[in-house]
Amino acid sequence: MILPIVSYGNAVLKTVAKEIDKDYPNLSELIDNMFETMYTASGVGLAAPQVGISIRLFIVDASDFKKEYPDSEDFKKVFINPKIIEESGEAWLFNEGCLSFPTLREDVKRKPNIKIEYYDESFAFHSEEFSGMNARIIQHEYDHVNGIVFVDRLSQLKKQLIKRKLNNIANGDVEIHYKMKFANKKKKQ
Ligand code: NI
Repeated sequence: MILPIVSYGNAVLKTVAKEIDKDYPNLSELIDNMFETMYTASGVGLAAPQVGISIRLFIVDASDFKKEYPDSEDFKKVFINPKIIEESGEAWLFNEGCLSFPTLREDVKRKPNIKIEYYDESFAFHSEEFSGMNARIIQHEYDHVNGIVFVDRLSQLKKQLIKRKLNNIANGDVEIHYKMKFANKKKKQ
């Protein structure tokens, strides 16, 4: 089932999400629905808060990046209760987008190497290291479960410059090809 993706301006995106345990109701169904939702929206990552559920869960599938980033070939994973233990290396810029911010893309600086602990969809524990694009996708989604969105990582000046674009997104004044729940969409008379 395709779930509506919440837009910028919705409080759930600014909320630190809660940990879950393996008894969380209908978890595998939620994960399936999140993958379906992400693929339909042509995304490479989706965090539960983006479908309005404030839990520490996100999914990634960056197979689409495999031409430019060969490491991303089999990068399809589920992260539950993730904890980034370490970030290292010299921060690099990449032009990021986010399904909750349709039409907006901005350069964001992130460190290239991470070490992360998490549980997968079967609640098996993992401690792994990622780098480059895979690390970046994880960092972006990890921010979501901590109530941080990518524009929070821009300079004050840059944020000022994109204010109108952000308002348009919150108000639903954007062209999209997937189902969204806008923060302040006015009802048509
Ligand atoms: Ni995002």
